[in-house]
This record gives sequence, structure tokens and C-alpha cells, in this order.
Amino acid sequence: MIFRQLFEPLSSTYTYLIGCEHSRQAALIDPVYPTWERDLQILKELNLNLAYTLETHVHADHITSALKLRQETGSKIVFPKQSAAECPDLVVEDGIVFSLGDIAIHPLYTPGHTDDHFAYGIVDKILTGDALLIDGCGRTDFQNGNADQLYNSIHTKLFSLPDDTLVYPGHDYNQRHVSTILQEKERNPRLGNNKDLTDFIELMNNLNLPYPKFIDYAVPGNKQCGVCPADLPENMDAYCHKVTESRQG
Ligand SMILES: [Fe+2]
Repeated sequence: MIFRQLFEPLSSTYTYLIGCEHSRQAALIDPVYPTWERDLQILKELNLNLAYTLETHVHADHITSALKLRQETGSKIVFPKQSAAECPDLVVEDGIVFSLGDIAIHPLYTPGHTDDHFAYGIVDKILTGDALLIDGCGRTDFQNGNADQLYNSIHTKLFSLPDDTLVYPGHDYNQRHVSTILQEKERNPRLGNNKDLTDFIELMNNLNLPYPKFIDYAVPGNKQCGVCPADLPENMDAYCHKVTESRQG
């Protein structure tokens, strides 16, 4: 398997490239609009053909490049079934393996950050999207988020994986790249060390986070698989511009 962790700096999003060495088919998980051209360049350098783009959920902080990449390459757009978007070519469902050449991608329904959220298990890795972050977790105060559900998703679906499973999050804001299930079980300040459900709900309900600045544009744009809204204010222009630098990960 070919695996790359790619970083998009505007929203601090990690996009994951998965490639099958035999079929040369590739998937991008959570690709971001401003870096669509960089991602295609990396696929080209690796001699891979983009077969699919997969989303962990409908994002609130960036526009997916799924539609742009489909226009450029003919790749198929894959969303969680629960996203209830009309634009995808295919949907993933909990427990139904998604095949990429020789590689089996295991979709795990992990609601709580949003009600359509999936993590993807691939060999020894779990891509945790915005459910479980390194030393943190996704917020639960919009898009039908629910702290109780997130706690259960993380404990039943993620913390039950083998301890040495590599945790690759959907975001990191402090240059951290990878963790393990055991590390998060032991030291995640929100969920680790057997933190109890009541304490977790109390903590999540009192974060007092600011309203996400891009959500009102990102969610409708992403429900259309990556359409940049026509009424985007000038100060948010960068979310819908491509950049070619910032290769990392
Ligand atoms: Fe999110």
C-alpha cells in the first residue's frame, strides 16, 4: 500500500492518499479545495490514478475538492450514506468493506462530531476524521453533534481497536502527525484515562467555542460535493482558491 499524509494549512486539514501498488488505483480521503492541484501532482509523481475521493463527513471548515477532482480525473465521489447528499456517486455504510484495488477500507460509523461521521480502518491504521484527534476530539455543538454519541463512538468503535493501531486524525493544529489507540486511551485529556461519560459531556457542553467562521458557506458547498458558494465574502476567498505550495506530512 502507498500511504501519504498531506496537509492543507488554511483549515489545518490532513488529506490522506491511499494507493494500491498493483492496480495503481488511489483514493484521497478528505481532499481540500485549495490543494486540489498539489494532490493531483503527487498522484502523478507516484504513478497513481485517482479512482475515488472519500469524505469522513460533511465538513464545516473547508470545501472538499471532490467535485473538482471528478471534473479533472473522472474519480468517483464517495460520501457517508448518512450525509444525505444527492451528489455522490457512491456511499459508504458501516461495516461494509470498500475496496480500492487490493486494499480493504473498513468504514466505521462514528457519529457525535456530526451525525454522518465515519472513520476508516486501513490495514494497521485508523483515519479518525474529526471524531478522535491527537490529545483531543472534534467539537459536538453543531451539525447534529452530540457529546454522548461521540463518547460512545470513540469507546466502542475506536478504543476497541488493537492498542498499536496507528491513529491518523483529520486535523492537527500543532504539527502532530500520528498517534496510537493506546496513546489516546492513556493520555487523551478529554477521553483517556477512563474519563467518565458524565465528565466528558460536561466538558464538551462548556467549551464555549466561537461560531465556526466558514460553516455557513462550507456546509451547503459540501452538500453539493464541493461547490464554492457564489456569495463568498472577499475575506474568505482563499477557501476557494487553489494553492500549489505547502506540501507536508
Ligand atoms: Fe468536521
